[in-house]
Amino acid sequence: MIEAQSKERIVRQRYAAGAKERADKLCCPVNYDSEYLKVIPPEVIERDYGCGDPSRYLREGETVLDLGSGTGKICFIAAQVVGPTGKIIGVDMTDEMLEVARRNAPIVAERIGYANVEFRKGRIQDLALDLELLDEQLQQSPIADAASFLGADELAEELRCKHPLIASDSVDVVVSSCVLNLVEPKSKPQLFDEIFRVLRKGGRAVICDIVSDEEVAEEMQDDPELWSGCISGALTEEGFLAAFENAGFYGIQILKRDAQPWRTVQGIEFRSVTIEAFKGKQGDCFERNQAVIYRGPFKEVLDDDGHRMQRGKPYAVCDRTYNLYKKAPYREFFEFVDPLVDVPLAEAKPFDCSRTALRHPKETKGQEYDATTEANNTCCDGGSCG
Ligand SMILES: C[S@@+](CC[C@H](N)C(=O)[O-])C[C@H]1O[C@@H](n2cnc3c(N)ncnc32)[C@H](O)[C@@H]1O
Repeated sequence: MIEAQSKERIVRQRYAAGAKERADKLCCPVNYDSEYLKVIPPEVIERDYGCGDPSRYLREGETVLDLGSGTGKICFIAAQVVGPTGKIIGVDMTDEMLEVARRNAPIVAERIGYANVEFRKGRIQDLALDLELLDEQLQQSPIADAASFLGADELAEELRCKHPLIASDSVDVVVSSCVLNLVEPKSKPQLFDEIFRVLRKGGRAVICDIVSDEEVAEEMQDDPELWSGCISGALTEEGFLAAFENAGFYGIQILKRDAQPWRTVQGIEFRSVTIEAFKGKQGDCFERNQAVIYRGPFKEVLDDDGHRMQRGKPYAVCDRTYNLYKKAPYREFFEFVDPLVDVPLAEAKPFDCSRTALRHPKETKGQEYDATTEANNTCCDGGSCG
């Protein structure tokens, strides 16, 4: 069995070499928007080891973190998508990759007319620890014995708190292309927790990675070539989605799934998928007499809080859920029913979100409501209700 540390060392060595010279076996063909590639130097483009393009899901003005940024291609494309008001941070642990990315950043900045990309050194499963800061400090007081070894541990903890590489709740979108699979199994839960930590409330992760259609046997995981080649560290497709769910994400969906596997090894298919997942459903629940109606097309849906809703029926929801459903990725699936008389948030009572209940129209309109009206012609398009 390869130890976790040595798995990471093997990955670092392989990508250090891949930063200096293109390694064909490490890439999975991706179609990027050629418009964005024009300003990116060839050495960056040719040392492309990605398996998807998360940059196509970004928007103007967003702050983006790219995990395992390599030579910086995704960052340089994203820089153009988010524009001068946006910001891109690439994180990688391999010096040789960072060297290529940092050397090319001013060239891209000059060509696009603004500089909004920076590269930082860190491990993506420990996004609080700035490895360059740690390096600086350790050079001043190197580890020489057990006491200084323990001291280094304390120093790392202090740096995480006082000078985090990536601060909590600071990023709009976390992206990544073909990197999460390279993190050893023991650290994978922490990796998903870290993605969650750095995102602001309402932020999202858009991650392209290689997944498997069956569990990968341990001996395959112990093959250094298959591990560092983005194969045997892959989670199963199901496990990949569950990892986001376990970290507290909601609204998780598959944005893209390659029908054809990238590679098949011993009968196991390895393919690229792109997943989107949101942060921000946590919070208190208040009763403001709001309701939502699931529009279909399925007979019923089950949301991330365990609410099972049948098509076409008005369900009582708390203010938090109501507002969550008004945004992506849910908005198009629901109709929204506001109460006739608004309940101000400051006066709203707690709502028990563990139950699923229908909202009777009398609750929406008020128990005393007994109005009779003429036909409402404003509902008719051009005078015809058909
Ligand atoms: C397959 S390459 C992908 C590079 C880039 N995303 C692209 O699309 O070309 C993997 C990259 O992730 C980096 N990497 C792997 N494991 C890492 C970790 N635990 N923390 C930080 N970087 C890591 C490697 O140094 C390498 O640059």
